[in-house]
Amino acid sequence: MPAAEWDMHFELVAAIEALKRGRNAVVLAHNYQRPEIFHGVADFHGDSLELASQAAASTADVIVLCGVRFMAETAKLLAPDKLVLLPDLDAGCSLAESIGPDDIRALRRRHPQAPAVCYVNTSAAVKAECDACCTSSNALSVVESFAAPEVILVPDRYLAAHVAAQTSVRIISWQGQCEVHQRFTGQEVREYREAASAFVLAHPECPDEVRAAADYVGSTSGMIAELGRKRPARAVLITECSMADNISGAFPGTDFLRPCNLCPHMQRITLPGIRASLERLAPAIDLPEDIAAGARRAVQRMLELSRPRGT
Ligand code: 13P
Ligand code: SF4
Repeated sequence: MPAAEWDMHFELVAAIEALKRGRNAVVLAHNYQRPEIFHGVADFHGDSLELASQAAASTADVIVLCGVRFMAETAKLLAPDKLVLLPDLDAGCSLAESIGPDDIRALRRRHPQAPAVCYVNTSAAVKAECDACCTSSNALSVVESFAAPEVILVPDRYLAAHVAAQTSVRIISWQGQCEVHQRFTGQEVREYREAASAFVLAHPECPDEVRAAADYVGSTSGMIAELGRKRPARAVLITECSMADNISGAFPGTDFLRPCNLCPHMQRITLPGIRASLERLAPAIDLPEDIAAGARRAVQRMLELSRPRGT
């Protein structure tokens, strides 16, 4: 964040910090959040899997999830006794909207032998119909954990194709796509690599030709880890563009090229919204227990698989 902007945010950041202390609240922010949230008020930031693990381990009374609705629902599933706030309940996701529980039931009828895995970018009602959920950082290991010849993996067609290319398991997929990542093209990526000599990191939600042209494909935190290993002179993140703003300070030797595709849902979360939610202790995530029980099982199965051996 440019230093000139610090003063603009100071008052709100101070007010939120005081409310956090008063409410015994923790702020968990996704890597795509605005820089003033990521750097200003987040106690923890990470990818979807890391946010879920943090929610499960939190000792706070209140969790403010700065991200989109499926992330806040996942936090509530893993921390059912805590108050989970999402500052704007309309912060959705085009992938989560692309599939409903009836679609999973129909897929299961058509493929009765295949375990069903859903991406974490789905509603709790969809998760409740599945055997496990996964994130972009563990989709391959979750799919292979069933040791089944075919597995349903929904709703992101590109994440499904990315996993299918790395396994002998037959993947039954869906036609969902992320409205942000689908906009990138292979031509654009080749130009970054060839004309600008940039190291290209792409999210698995990107189209096939984009992933094929990238140097690295992984989750948002996977990209950060890869940058730490490679320390390239020039890099481009083929993902939501707040990421480059958030992490460029941690990589002073890397010049970031900045294509800008913003996620309109992530952008709904603002400092004034966070302050209001901590003042009012609303809006809170509430899930009917019949749905929550099934969805929790699917999320817990994923976390079991992600836990380092021996813990
Ligand atoms: P990550 O789990 O990689 O952070 O991705 C979440 C997401 O919504 C990407 O668009
Ligand atoms: Fe959903 Fe795409 Fe936004 Fe991620 S970037 S929350 S997948 S719409």
